[in-house]
Amino acid sequence: MEEVLLEVKSVSKKFEDRYVLENVDMRLENCQFIAILGHSGSGKSTMLNILSSVLRPSTGYVFYKGRDITKLSKKEVAEIRREYIGLVFQHYMLLPNLTIRENIEIGNKKDNKNINLEELCTLLGIQHLLEHYPYHLSGGEQQRACIARAVIKKP
Ligand SMILES: Nc1ncnc2c1ncn2[C@@H]1O[C@H](COP(=O)(O)OP(=O)(O)OP(=O)(O)O)[C@@H](O)[C@H]1O
Ligand SMILES: [Mg+2]
Repeated sequence: MEEVLLEVKSVSKKFEDRYVLENVDMRLENCQFIAILGHSGSGKSTMLNILSSVLRPSTGYVFYKGRDITKLSKKEVAEIRREYIGLVFQHYMLLPNLTIRENIEIGNKKDNKNINLEELCTLLGIQHLLEHYPYHLSGGEQQRACIARAVIKKP
């Protein structure tokens, strides 16, 4: 059997008095690829934010490799996110005062097991934009820079 990477149990999320997610269960195995579909406002981003511990659920549990990440301190959660999770945000969240190269480096870890930045950006077709600032890039180019930032550390 494949290793269970992420397991969500009875997760609900309430904003003010309105439930956006109600009793969601989900299971993701190692190397599994899934897509979450739903109409605008149905709670996809909320769900991804909970899965990646950016947001805490109102009730329920999120287990990452068997460890409940909804009960961890902010510091512990930040460590898990830095080590194991790569996120591409709906709003790109590139830092405006940093070049694309610097933005991508921010997602990196200080060891040499990472993907080579130049090779990754060549694959993504943004290698010629590394010394530019985010506001010079098109939406799609910014999104590819976010993908590079998310995957460079092999999360
Ligand atoms: N911080 C918040 N406070 C209050 N309501 C919120 C908050 N964040 C999200 N919502 C509401 O929760 C609902 C789900 O939002 P979410 O961003 O998860 O939708 P989505 O499925 O990602 O939509 P889209 O496809 O448009 O990106 C929306 O109705 C939104 O207005
Ligand atoms: Mg969304």
